[in-house]
Amino acid sequence: MEKEIVKNPIITCENVDIFYGNVKAIDALSLKVDRQKVTTLIGPSGCGKSTFLRALNRMNDFIESFRISGRILLEGEDIYGPQTDPVQIRLRVGMVFQSPNPFPKSIFENIALGPRLNGYKGDLEELVVSSLKRAYLWDEVKDKLKENAYSLSGGQQQRLCIARAIAMQPDVLLMDEPTSALDPISTAKIEELILELQEKYTIVIVTHNMQQASRIGSYTAFFYQGRLIEFDKTSKIFTSPSEKMTEEYITGRFG
Ligand SMILES: Nc1ncnc2c1ncn2[C@@H]1O[C@H](COP(=O)(O)OP(=O)(O)OP(=O)(O)O)[C@@H](O)[C@H]1O
Ligand SMILES: [Mg+2]
Repeated sequence: MEKEIVKNPIITCENVDIFYGNVKAIDALSLKVDRQKVTTLIGPSGCGKSTFLRALNRMNDFIESFRISGRILLEGEDIYGPQTDPVQIRLRVGMVFQSPNPFPKSIFENIALGPRLNGYKGDLEELVVSSLKRAYLWDEVKDKLKENAYSLSGGQQQRLCIARAIAMQPDVLLMDEPTSALDPISTAKIEELILELQEKYTIVIVTHNMQQASRIGSYTAFFYQGRLIEFDKTSKIFTSPSEKMTEEYITGRFG
């Protein structure tokens, strides 16, 4: 019998298959994501990590050949259900990409634009300030909110993108290799930020960096060729994995 690792999940995936045309990218995946924890997705290139991550907020809908079966429940609601509005799902499940992708606008506007378009009723300025503070960026940008976001360093741009995602007040934040384009100091800052953010948000993050996965993850899922090979507490995965393949991957014997 499968042991119950996550008892009170925010996301439950049941027997999910994902295809691009005739190619199966995710095979019979069942996985639960614990709330207000960091779940890291690891595995060699092409094993389906990004495909699975994007399925969690219906970002794959934009790919024409994409098809999914099985169920993904967010707080019990089938996110691919006929009544479900993908736009609402993407508001509840935000995303941060591998390369920082701020809008070519001011630092202030990068945060304010989404909430404004979405009819935010509160104090927009306050929301910008609190989002920048929560992303540990405020001190670095408070005197230049009107400057273009491209004037920031890569690491600052990535924290701006995290602030932008936070400003939409999501429940879940998806991050696909958010530090792979950054230097070690910026990476450390983002890792620290992720650990802080789990007090409020559920985070699912893809990483190729095993140290990073072990530093920030509460849970780790190891993927191989579209299958979930092993899922467990991160401490268990990195000290005594149940599957030989997991051990070989985390010790760098393949990948
Ligand atoms: N838009 C797409 N159209 C067709 N096939 C795709 C598409 N995106 C991914 N695939 C295929 O799906 C499989 C899984 O790819 P995916 O990008 O999810 O892997 P990944 O684990 O994120 O890899 P990496 O670590 O290199 O980012 C691969 O075989 C890939 O070629
Ligand atoms: Mg990927």
